[in-house]
Amino acid sequence: MKKKILVTGGTGYIGSHTVVELQNAGYEVVIIDNLSNSNIEVLDGIEKISGIRPVFAQLDLNDKEGVRNVLKENPGIKGIIHFAASKAVGESVHKPLLYYRNNLVTLVNLLDLMPEFHIDGIVFSSSCTVYGQPDILPVTEDAPIKPALSPYGNTKQINEEIIRDCIHADLPFKSIILRYFNPIGAHPSAEIGELPNGVPQNLVPFVTQTAMGIRKELSVFGDDYDTPDGSCIRDYINVVDLAKAHVIAIDRMLENKSDEKLEIFNLGTGRGVSVLELIHAFEKGTGVKVPYKIVDRREGDIEKVWANPVHANTVLGWTAKETVEDTLVTAWNWQLKLRERGIQ
Ligand code: WQD
Repeated sequence: MKKKILVTGGTGYIGSHTVVELQNAGYEVVIIDNLSNSNIEVLDGIEKISGIRPVFAQLDLNDKEGVRNVLKENPGIKGIIHFAASKAVGESVHKPLLYYRNNLVTLVNLLDLMPEFHIDGIVFSSSCTVYGQPDILPVTEDAPIKPALSPYGNTKQINEEIIRDCIHADLPFKSIILRYFNPIGAHPSAEIGELPNGVPQNLVPFVTQTAMGIRKELSVFGDDYDTPDGSCIRDYINVVDLAKAHVIAIDRMLENKSDEKLEIFNLGTGRGVSVLELIHAFEKGTGVKVPYKIVDRREGDIEKVWANPVHANTVLGWTAKETVEDTLVTAWNWQLKLRERGIQ
């Protein structure tokens, strides 16, 4: 068995897929999650896929003493992958304090505890949102960080600065910051996938729930943007491809494959896809229609962003493999499984 890793937010969408890939790579995993946007049943899905049930502690990372106890009860943790955060652009505009409390203090608590437990590194789940609306596309890691257009994006920028300042202060740990573009899809087994509590904030779960008849129709937030079909463009990346990048990052850090104490990577496909193109790709791949209507723009949305993934491709040796079309079919298969289980 390889080293022991703490995964915060490990019952969440990206977290759960990453736990599976860590276990497949031989890591022992401890999860801390407060289940605010996930369900305990995700542990069953992880176990069905990997055959290993991760250690789980239901806890809010704002409870620093609680986190310290989990670290004491699970000695030998050498790395952290920190996913736990609120992540909806639109929601953050309306609930800024929820986002600042949930996304900032939690990271500070973790960083504060790392030296006490000799944890060597932290992989931080960041986002292309830190770029705002880039002036140049595709966007590279050295693109200027522009004023965030949402409290969510601002928390990711501040998180990165907190980590950067800790590294600059020579605290005894390393960090790799992964800037995701738009994660979509589900594990090919359909045992785990995206299952937000309540009305989905993100596009693809809303598409699959509309296709399933759970939602009446999809609202497309604007078709008057400066893009070929007027709808926003994003870089949609398969969640399993994304999860695999985290294992590579943890390996890189814990096996000291780099002299850098802080590295930053864009994780995207390098391909921009519009909302309307995504809807049509879903319909083509699944044969299921998605009723939609064009409505006003959503506050906080940027117009278009897609990655230049060359840095991750060359330095990490990682490339996104799955197409958007194939990935949308995995999202649909997951939605079908949820219906089969009577969950949605
Ligand atoms: C995508 C596009 C919407 C819903 C955020 C975070 C990012 C990542 C993913 C964590 C936009 C449009 C959406 C709907 C729509 N978070 N849309 N109707 O806001 O690009 O990215 O979530 O990993 O860090 O920034 O994702 O899926 O909400 O929106 O038209 O019902 O779909 O306007 O153009 P977003 P999203």
